[in-house]
Amino acid sequence: MARSKIALVGAGQIGGTMALLAAQKQLGDVITIDIAEGVPQGKSLDITHGRSLIPTSSTLTGSNSYEALAGADVVIVTAGLPRKPGMSRDDLLDVNFGIIKTVGEAIKKNAPNAFIIVVTNPLDAMVYAMQKVTGFPAHRVAGMAGVLDSARFAALVAEALNVSNEDVTALVMGGHGDTMVPLTRYCSVGGIPVTQLLSKEKLDEIYKRTANAGGEVVALLKTGSAFYSPAMSAIHMAEAYLKDKKNVLSCAAKLNGEYGVTGLYAGVPVIMGAGGIEKVLEVQLDETEKKMFDVSIAAVKSLVEWVDKKMSA
Ligand code: APR
Repeated sequence: MARSKIALVGAGQIGGTMALLAAQKQLGDVITIDIAEGVPQGKSLDITHGRSLIPTSSTLTGSNSYEALAGADVVIVTAGLPRKPGMSRDDLLDVNFGIIKTVGEAIKKNAPNAFIIVVTNPLDAMVYAMQKVTGFPAHRVAGMAGVLDSARFAALVAEALNVSNEDVTALVMGGHGDTMVPLTRYCSVGGIPVTQLLSKEKLDEIYKRTANAGGEVVALLKTGSAFYSPAMSAIHMAEAYLKDKKNVLSCAAKLNGEYGVTGLYAGVPVIMGAGGIEKVLEVQLDETEKKMFDVSIAAVKSLVEWVDKKMSA
């Protein structure tokens, strides 16, 4: 059986970390592509030097050409610019939309059968744009958000209870931003609902901290945003696809009537395997959760309307 090929578009903080993780997990050969000359080559070479220590047989190559996407089974996209001082949200949307358009067209041309995982922010709008630009079936284009938000929620629960993080499962839905919906009712610790182990006050605190987790890291780093856990999250999704694991995880998926939403990407639990997003799972939401989900969807909708306007311009 031929080795899988994992293409990483964007060799920045997240891209470089993903290259290391993919090699460490022996997911296949890793090709990293970036417009910055020397950066994808340098990072690939650096990891290559340490291959005997991990150890791994994965090969790592860097390129400045999108043609290197050829034959990729999975493409993970982090290409984009971070928001800089003085830049409005619209300015960022504009720049990153342009990048997603270029990258999307290149994927369509060079890797027409790939499964795409989008990480670039603002996530819900960028993954929507990627699917439109490539014209790929929606089950082959997913956004990385829920895996990370759920992992952050689970980490805080494990810390609060002083238990192993391995035993905590959590589910965060909705858009990737302030309006995300961490579902305390669906979080469990060794099979025990967390609501039986932590007070409502503590859970509310964890909930707020989950929604602000990215901001907390930015405030500490000062010159960049979180990259280790986003990289782990995207690689978790790639592994589910490549190994046909049929993992149940939360990601930005295009909804087709589920949760009363059609045509938008939003964070929902799905089954991820060789078919990409094989199924969107519909969990029951109580009235408060549903209201929060709807608020989150409204936020996503305004971003998507912006993308639609750009696409038809
Ligand atoms: N093609 C390929 N690479 C590009 C392009 C492009 N058109 N435009 C920019 N890049 C590259 C940059 O050169 C940079 O190396 O994308 C990389 C982005 O890396 P970082 O700035 O380090 O950002 P990172 O922390 O990796 O985050 C990437 O993911 O979570 C989101 O908000 C985050 O949108 C950001 C993205």
